[in-house]
Amino acid sequence: MLLNKSNRENKKVSLKGAVQINHSSFFVYKDKSGNTFLKTGEDEKLHKSAVQNMINSNPHIARLLKRFRIKPNIDTKTLNELTCGHMNETCNIAIGVYSLLSGDIKSHVDKESLKEASMLHDLGKVLIPSKILNKPAKLNVKERKIMNIHSTLGYELLKTQDLSEETLSLIRYHHQNLKHSGYPALPQENTSSDIGVQIISIADKYSALRESRVYRRRLSRTEALLILYREVREGKIMPAVYNALFRYAELYDLD
Ligand SMILES: [Fe+2]
Ligand SMILES: [Fe+2]
Repeated sequence: MLLNKSNRENKKVSLKGAVQINHSSFFVYKDKSGNTFLKTGEDEKLHKSAVQNMINSNPHIARLLKRFRIKPNIDTKTLNELTCGHMNETCNIAIGVYSLLSGDIKSHVDKESLKEASMLHDLGKVLIPSKILNKPAKLNVKERKIMNIHSTLGYELLKTQDLSEETLSLIRYHHQNLKHSGYPALPQENTSSDIGVQIISIADKYSALRESRVYRRRLSRTEALLILYREVREGKIMPAVYNALFRYAELYDLD
C-alpha cells in the first residue's frame, strides 16, 4: 500500500526490514495504522521520518553522536544513492557468492538474514557528515574514526526494529575479517557466523571497488579481484569465499 503525500507527512513510519524484488532493493515500512508498504531510497520525507523514529527510540544513538561530535543531521540524499546503488549491488553479489559456495559452508549461513543485512548494511552512513563521506581525498585519523562508526550506528538504528539477531549482527560486523582485526571489535561471546560476515564483507568490498568514488576511479574486475586476493594471503578472507566471488565475477560481472 502506498501512502499519499499528506498522509506521509502526518503519520509516523518505521522501517521493518528490506526485500529484494527483481534484483532491486526496497525498504519495508510500516505506518502507525499497521499498513506495510515498500519504498526505494527516493522518498526523502518518508526516510527522514523513519530514521528520526529510530533515533528517538534508542537514546544510545544521541550519546554516540555526542561522543564523536557529530551533528544529528539525516542525510537522505546519501541514503537514496546508497539504496539504489551500493547496497543493492552488495546484496546481489552476496547472494551470488552464497549460491556458489558448497552446501557444507552454506549450512552455516542464514540466507534471508544475509540478504536483508546486505540491503541495509550501510544505513548508518545516513548520519555520517557528508563532508567526510564525500571527501575527495584520504581521511585523516579523526575523520576515519567517525567514518568507522557507521556500522555501529546502522546496528543501533536498526536494533529497535523487527530484525533478526543474525541480520543485526551482520550489519554491525560487516567490516570485520577472519583475523578479527576489523571494526568494531568483536565481543568475547560473539556468536555471529564468521562465514556470513565473510560473505557480506567481500560483497561490500567488491561492490565498492567496482564503483567510482570521489577519491578514485572505478577499478576493473581484475584489479578488484587482485586487491581482495591480497587479503586472502593476509589471512583476512576465507579462500572458499574468495573462490566463490571469483566465479561470481567470471559468470556475472562481464564489463
Ligand atoms: Fe560499510
Ligand atoms: Fe558498504
